[in-house]
Amino acid sequence: MCGATLTIERRRGIIEVEMCGATPVLVDIDLDTYTLSPHRLETVITSRTKAIIPVHLYGHPADMEPILEIARRHHVFVIEDCAQAHGAMYQGKRMGSFGDLAAFSFYPTKNLGQLVMEELLSQMILR
Ligand SMILES: Cc1ncc(COP(=O)(O)O)c(C=O)c1O
Repeated sequence: MCGATLTIERRRGIIEVEMCGATPVLVDIDLDTYTLSPHRLETVITSRTKAIIPVHLYGHPADMEPILEIARRHHVFVIEDCAQAHGAMYQGKRMGSFGDLAAFSFYPTKNLGQLVMEELLSQMILR
């Protein structure tokens, strides 16, 4: 179950879930956070659900407390998509430390890649 904002990255994420032999189920977003809606998640989770993939979007964390509670109750894994969440925090804890697994991105357009690129550019300019 993936938080659904249908960017190209998300479509790729859907294909990757299918490549694992699983069936991706998109869950609508919460309009306050623009991340996975715990309320919507509750309405689509079934006994066949294996994992929940909350996407922390643009450095904004998904509402992990209710998501983790639902995951625990249904005995499913939580895989945090932290591609855009380097350094982001929720209730005083870093994103990536909540789920069973977390994936970060080092791609140049993502948060961490941008920091590295900015540092490299400023060194080149100051040289
Ligand atoms: C939210 C999100 N998840 C996953 C990815 C994939 O990251 P990568 O290109 O490093 O595999 C991206 C970026 O493309 C992303 O924005």
